[in-house]
Amino acid sequence: MKAIIPVAGVGTRLRPHTFSHPKVLLNVAGKPIIGHIMDKLISAGIDEAIVIVGYLGDMVEDWLTKHYSIKFTFVNQPERLGLAHAIWMCKPYLSKTEPLFIILGDTIFDVDLEPVMNSPFSTLGVKDVEDPRRFGVAVTDGEKILKLVEKPDTPVSKHAIVGLYFLQQAGLLLDSIDHLIDNKIVTKGEYQLTDALQLMIERGEKFTTFPVSGWYDCGKPETLLSTNKILLKNNTARLKTYTGCIINEPVFIADNAILENAIIGPNTTIGEHAVITNTIIKDSIIGNYAKVSSIMLNHSIVGNNAGITGNPNEINIGDYSEIRLG
Ligand code: UTP
Repeated sequence: MKAIIPVAGVGTRLRPHTFSHPKVLLNVAGKPIIGHIMDKLISAGIDEAIVIVGYLGDMVEDWLTKHYSIKFTFVNQPERLGLAHAIWMCKPYLSKTEPLFIILGDTIFDVDLEPVMNSPFSTLGVKDVEDPRRFGVAVTDGEKILKLVEKPDTPVSKHAIVGLYFLQQAGLLLDSIDHLIDNKIVTKGEYQLTDALQLMIERGEKFTTFPVSGWYDCGKPETLLSTNKILLKNNTARLKTYTGCIINEPVFIADNAILENAIIGPNTTIGEHAVITNTIIKDSIIGNYAKVSSIMLNHSIVGNNAGITGNPNEINIGDYSEIRLG
């Protein structure tokens, strides 16, 4: 089955890191966000992916084709007009009758996809949330979805839509998006996938929901760090011994990173070829080739090739930054 993965966005909320890297290539718990997603999809039997690229799309394409051998089609979305528009760009590569799985490129999930892919109906992944006002939600009759409501003011449903969509037939979705685009129906300035799905419901398509208990957002610095913490708990890679260092697991430390006189962890990712000396780091992500010395870092993100030495304890610096304090 084909998966569509939209990753054309700029990732503004993760600047400065997304100035030099597309969001989906940011490292979380030892591999890029999209690596976690691809591993799940492939183990669920996805053998072909249509990846919608835009901002820094060449980097995404390079990384995916180097690391995975399934069939990829890269579709360029030059203008980011919304998720429905992104899916619509894939039209030439889809047959109307084939089933389709759509997953947002910045959502790491933990769910058994096998029953989802075999579902007799179209189905949307949902997670129950206490405050649904920030999400699109699905109102159900206990079995099928009655309607979808984007960011409801009143608590009509707790079932937040999390970015995993299985559709029985691509054609019905594409027809609904055609309708949005032909009639310029936009919500908050974008062609919304939720609007297209709502139209499908109105046109008689039966949708159910499936529960997604593990849903890890990576869209903001604080969620990237909390996702890093959660995913590191599953890291089973064996650690080397580092003389003069204390390692508090869970951590991910790239094999070729150099650690001297350091206390690392818990909940810390150290990237490839990073050099860490005389330093205490916890709850943080340190990029590839970063140099960190004589400092205590907590709840911090240090970009690739960045260097920091001194004594603050909470920072968020992008690739190639150079900071000397104290
Ligand atoms: P987001 O709006 O959450 O991601 O879209 P973003 O735009 O990258 O991040 P911010 O808001 O600027 O910080 C969710 C997913 O849908 C893709 C994005 O790339 C992201 O993976 N998307 C969204 C597209 O591919 N095209 C679009 O037109 C809209």
